[in-house]
Amino acid sequence: MELEPKKFYKFLGPRPAVLLTTTDKEKSTNATPISFVMPLSIEPPMIAVSIGVKSVPASNLHEIREFVINVMPEKMIGSLWSCTKNPPTGIDELTKAGLTQIISAKSLVPSIQEAIAWFECLFDYEKAFGDHVLVVGRVVHMTVRDDVLAKDGSIDLKKAGALMHMVGNKFAVAEREIAVKEEKPAGPQAGM
Ligand SMILES: Cc1cc2nc3c(=O)[nH]c(=O)nc-3n(C[C@H](O)[C@H](O)[C@H](O)COP(=O)(O)O)c2cc1C
Repeated sequence: MELEPKKFYKFLGPRPAVLLTTTDKEKSTNATPISFVMPLSIEPPMIAVSIGVKSVPASNLHEIREFVINVMPEKMIGSLWSCTKNPPTGIDELTKAGLTQIISAKSLVPSIQEAIAWFECLFDYEKAFGDHVLVVGRVVHMTVRDDVLAKDGSIDLKKAGALMHMVGNKFAVAEREIAVKEEKPAGPQAGM
């Protein structure tokens, strides 16, 4: 079946559903659900997100040039969804969503306590593409909840229950791990 090219992203998923926290100069914190997120480089550790050109985070990043990626678990789906709606003036978005702001290790921007992993980033670069703006950041601090780690230090899918986004109000959770059987010595990129 042929589809409109603009629907391509609906078939490139599910993707991690994370909450992007940013702050304006009045120290008001915004949490926006995003799934257009990808690692760009391991050394140095760089990450890219794509956000609406006119979105609150795009504007906040011009005031405080830092952001935090909060990786969210399945049980916080309601809170994450609640962050798609702007609350009436004077009502704090995170409190209304049942989320707790905590002081980040290195960033001025708060992290969200209910997340399972946190990447604190310095805003490095941006470029608009159509209706979105690509934002690149350097990960300067990273924390993961101890109880979602497997013995080998990787993520334990079942314990993490990390939320993935499909489209609209449809989400997924990856729970089954599969490993490739190695028949010859691992290549240079193995273990990435
Ligand atoms: C799971 C999920 C993933 C989303 N991913 C993105 C994304 O990657 N980029 C984006 O610009 N908007 C994304 N959106 C839409 C924004 O979250 C939404 O436009 C935003 O919350 C509007 O709030 P604002 O007016 O405070 O910016 C996503 C929404 C959901 C529910």
